[in-house]
Amino acid sequence: MKKYISEVIEEKLARFPQVKLASLPTPIAKLENLSQELGGPEILVKRDDLTGLAFGGNKSRKLEFIIADALKKGADTIITWASLQSNWCLQLAAAARKHGLRPILVLFQTYDLPFSYDGNLLLDFLVEAEIQVRETKEKGKSVNQEKAFSLLKEIAEEEKKKGKKPYVVSVGGSATGGDMDRPLGALAYLKAMVEIAEQLSGVNKKVSHIVIASGSGATQAGLLVGAKALGLETEIIGICVSDKKEEFLPQVKAIVLKLIETLQIEVEIDDREIILFDEYIREGYGVVNKEVAEVIRLVLKREGLVLDPVYTSKAMIGLIDLVKKGYFASKDRVLFIHTGGTPALFAFKNRLVELLK
Ligand SMILES: Cc1ncc(COP(=O)(O)O)c(C=O)c1O
Repeated sequence: MKKYISEVIEEKLARFPQVKLASLPTPIAKLENLSQELGGPEILVKRDDLTGLAFGGNKSRKLEFIIADALKKGADTIITWASLQSNWCLQLAAAARKHGLRPILVLFQTYDLPFSYDGNLLLDFLVEAEIQVRETKEKGKSVNQEKAFSLLKEIAEEEKKKGKKPYVVSVGGSATGGDMDRPLGALAYLKAMVEIAEQLSGVNKKVSHIVIASGSGATQAGLLVGAKALGLETEIIGICVSDKKEEFLPQVKAIVLKLIETLQIEVEIDDREIILFDEYIREGYGVVNKEVAEVIRLVLKREGLVLDPVYTSKAMIGLIDLVKKGYFASKDRVLFIHTGGTPALFAFKNRLVELLK
């Protein structure tokens, strides 16, 4: 990476207001046992589960920009949606409370999990988020964005009538819309790419691939634009957790284009560079099967690393399968980003025990 390029990007990023939420840089470690057992490329992990905000995760980085934007726009309330055990919603609620904003969470029952104050929901309750639970017929899929936005806008109108100043933001802080008119979540992951490049600069330290769980798309979009802008040849591999490639790729692409436009950088990204594997969604979003339970056990036993049951477990299943299929060369170095979500493990405890006993 050429030093001056990262400085130009950092200077552009600094124009966007940010609050401090995450302990950065997050560490990078080698997964030696797993790499040895699989006998393929060297595998490393970036610990974005250790960002420090309410059990950590990729959303802490995004919220540094999003909360700052809400504060700049004079908001006193922040409204978003996601699934019942959403990591995004918990992170948003904790970040909002820390900065004096009132969080309203609309939680959709997208998977077969009964409402219970467990996992992220317990933490949502403890942080005093205002929770509205909604049924949805679309089980095992992400919530339709247009429907969710129009519902949130109605809630925002009611809040305005009560004299409040709401800020509406989409699931995962990824797609623009509501009150977030810039792709701030992706901006945060472009910044993370600069951090990764700095951590891995030096002889023989570069990674050939980065593997992540891709849900609402901003993590992938930010890393992809970041890698391109920095002139790196690192391939960014998104493992889909909810939507099939044909539906999801245009969403990632839209965020990529918005990010390029926002930063006014000369980067071109071809559709073929948006690498997505959707076969690891298996039975659907948030469906915990034996494979998920087993990969959580494997990685915990070999590395002492705790994966979550909805995102990072599926990404790890994908990574291991790609190694087995010979997708990587043995000289490759693969960075797996642990994007957090571990509190949800406890909400799925019965299922996990049932599957592994
Ligand atoms: C733990 C975890 N990993 C990965 C993701 C995916 O990130 P993104 O929504 O930016 O695609 C999410 C959220 O969707 C998440 O909660």
